[in-house]
Order: sequence, then C-alpha cells, then structure tokens
Amino acid sequence: MVHQKCVRKPTRKCIENVMKDYDLEKGTYERVGRILLDEMEQGLSRDTNASAVIKMFPTYVRALPDGSERGNFLALDLGGTNFRVLLITLKGASVEMENKIYPISQELMIGHGTKLFDHIASCISDFMTDHNLKGAGHLPLGFTFSFPCAQDSLNVGRLVQWTKGFACEGVQNQDVVKLLHEAIARRGDIDVECVALLNDTVGCLMSCAFLDHNTEIGVILGTGTNACYMEKLDRVGTWDGDRGEPQQVIINTEWGAFGSNGCLDFLRTDVDKAIDEASLNPGKQLYEKMISGMYMGEIVRRVLVKCVSQGLLFEGHSSDLLDTPARFYTKYISEIEKDTDEDEFRRTKIVFEELGLEEHLTDDDCRNVQYICSLVSQRAAYLASAGIATLLNRIEKPNITVAVDGSLYRYHPYFHQLMMDKTRQLLKPELNFHIRLSEDGSGRGAALVAAVAHRYHSQGIHGYKPTTNG
Ligand code: GLC
Repeated sequence: MVHQKCVRKPTRKCIENVMKDYDLEKGTYERVGRILLDEMEQGLSRDTNASAVIKMFPTYVRALPDGSERGNFLALDLGGTNFRVLLITLKGASVEMENKIYPISQELMIGHGTKLFDHIASCISDFMTDHNLKGAGHLPLGFTFSFPCAQDSLNVGRLVQWTKGFACEGVQNQDVVKLLHEAIARRGDIDVECVALLNDTVGCLMSCAFLDHNTEIGVILGTGTNACYMEKLDRVGTWDGDRGEPQQVIINTEWGAFGSNGCLDFLRTDVDKAIDEASLNPGKQLYEKMISGMYMGEIVRRVLVKCVSQGLLFEGHSSDLLDTPARFYTKYISEIEKDTDEDEFRRTKIVFEELGLEEHLTDDDCRNVQYICSLVSQRAAYLASAGIATLLNRIEKPNITVAVDGSLYRYHPYFHQLMMDKTRQLLKPELNFHIRLSEDGSGRGAALVAAVAHRYHSQGIHGYKPTTNG
C-alpha cells in the first residue's frame, strides 16, 4: 500500500488516511458473514470437510448441564493467558473453586511435547500436594485444551495443529489425552484420570448454560479467538457417533482459521500481512490475527511505527521498545481507550513512559494514538460480530444467549458495546440475543463436562451419551 506524503495536510487527516482500511462498511461485514457461512457449511459436509478451512469439529458434548452435577473434579486450563490447575466442587446450584497459575516458559511452548506434558503432570502433582489430594482416591479430570482437536469421543482427541504461541514437537496428530496419561504414568504419584477433553469455547458455553438455559453459543476473545455452538445432528454431515436423543452436538468451529484460503484477502491490510509473515504459523489463523489479543497490540505497534516514519507522531521519534515486535501489549489498547481529554490522557502517558517516548508525546499524539487504537479495536469487534451474527442467523431461534470470555473481551472498555451494536445490525430483524460474560468456563465448564462424563463412565457406559437436555 502506498501512503500519500503528508507535507501540507494536517496530521489528523494523514492519520485518517493511514487508518482508512480499518474503517469498513456494513456491506463488508455482511460479505464476511456470507463467506463464513459458506466455509462453515464446507466444514460440516462429509464431502468437503477434508479441504475445508473451518473444520467444525463435533465435540461429543450433546447436552447442557441440568444442575444435578455434583462431586470433586480437577481441571486443567492450557492455551490461554495462563496455565492453571483447578479443583472444582460441584454442589448442585453452587460451585466452589480453587486454582493455581503455573507459568509456562517460552522454551516449553516451542520445545518437545514430552517436556510440556511432563511439566503439566508435575504441576498437577504440586497442586494435589498443596490441597491434600494425594491419597484422597481417584479423581476425574476435565482437560481444557484450547487448540484444534479432532475428537473421536469425549476423552480422545488428536491435535490437528498448534495455534497462538505454541509449537511443540511431537504432539501434532497425537491424542493429547493419551500424552497426558503417559506423563501422569511416568510420575506414578497421582491418581487422576482425564475423562473429558474440551475446547475453551465449550467450557465457556457450558459454564454460562449452567445459569442461563438459552445459551447456545460460546465465544472466546482472548489470546486467540474461536466459537462453538449447539448444532442439530442432521446438519452435521461428518457425525459418526450415535443418533439417539438429544439429536444435537456442540460444534467447535475453529473459526480462527477463517481466511487461510485467501477468502478474506480483500480486507486484509499490509500490516495484517506483515504480522502473518512474521508469525509462528504463516498463512494460518488469519481471522484470528485480525481479532485476538495475541495480535491486536502488534497491529497497533506496526501502525504507530509507520506513522512515526511519516513524521506523524512523537515528533518523528521512535524508541527501541516501540521498534520491538510484540512489545506493544494489547492491554495498552484498553488503557489508552479508557482515557479522556478531561483526565489529561493519564493512562496513555503511562504507556508511552513505559515505552521510553514520554519526552516526545504531545496531547495531539495522545488523541491520534487513541484514534488508531479505537479503529483497530472496532474492526476486531465488528469482525467477531459478523461471526456471531452468522451463527445466530443459522440457529434461527428467537432469543439466544451468547456466552463470551477471554482477556480481550473482559478488559477492553468498549468491546461489548461494539459487538452488541454490530451484531444487532447484522442479525435478521425478527431475532433477539444477549451477550453475556461467562465466568470461568475453563474451570467450571471443564468440571461440568467431566461430571456428566464421569457419571456415564461409572455406569459402565463408554463414551458420553446423555439422554437429558437441561
Ligand atoms: C485458538 C485455538 C482455539 C481456541 C482459541 C481461543 O484459535 O485454535 O482452539 O479456542 O484460540 O483460545
């Protein structure tokens, strides 16, 4: 993309010009929704699934919680901002939860898979010691593993490919539950069995459905982005499981992969393309790279660097930190967008102090940086809305709750409102919806899935074949 030289134009006009490709029309989002629906249908059809970009994995979760779930469960949450081990006690209407965060080093994220799973097993062991759970008998575990997995049953799932910051060797195409059990067996000091493998979107949906029975969609807007929803079995061409009641299954769409066949190229900017090329997985997860927390800060950073090089910001100065890839965190965007003229850009000033640019920062810069952040956020929220509206229009029920979780959605000051507005605009007029924050799906959701699985398991029924739909 060639940018005009801005010699005589006022700075704001020049910045608007740099940002014009982020300010998309309603028709563009409608087009995104139409293509997405088509790609989803290809993923659901047995004939086209192999070549489809959006894989639409059946999850084997077929019923929502009914409130009768009880017991102690361990849960693991891998793939978001933090790795956590959790202990969840389900007591009907109430849920108790304890958890501990364990850091996962960069080395583990891109090292050999055996090391990663040994680390996970050692964290489970540490957690069980802390909570006096060793010797307390056999504990069922729900594993929230937030990566694309092709499942054969509730607790068998092959990693199709790593996404976000992970790239461990020897895990792709392997059953991750088997890898976990092998690591647990290597230690020999913990009596734990993984009874359910689930994506974070599924945990998010289940956790919200526990309180609100209209919940049929779960969306994550965090490090990555993805959605799942309840689909009718007769619309899932790839379904191999039993066809008894309830004739529905949660589909993990893996919508983050949208665009990797070039179908979104008409709206991707030069910055989107540069970020993709520099990423761990070039050509993959292109929708995710325009929306999620792992990339949004980097989009803004690259736009800022471009503006500096055109003399539009910070009196033409950059800093080593601003020039460092991934060093402009997505949380900065939330901080900057919270500022107003009245509080004299207090938060924005702190951000640029951290980046070593405070000497060159004017109030106009603050306003312009805020404008840049707001357009990048707006595009992300509107693209996610195009996805949500597509699912709502497909399910076509009069009043559906969309459960949402993830650090981006939680901490951004306007993401929720932007999504409400755009989803409304893109939705069939006769339909209604709510967007609701789902509290801790990766823990509570995992326990809920594990609870039902465990019940069936202990009854000697293999797989997960619930007959009730709460
Ligand atoms: C990535 C993963 C997906 C996950 C999402 C949100 O897109 O592939 O499985 O749900 O991130 O964490």
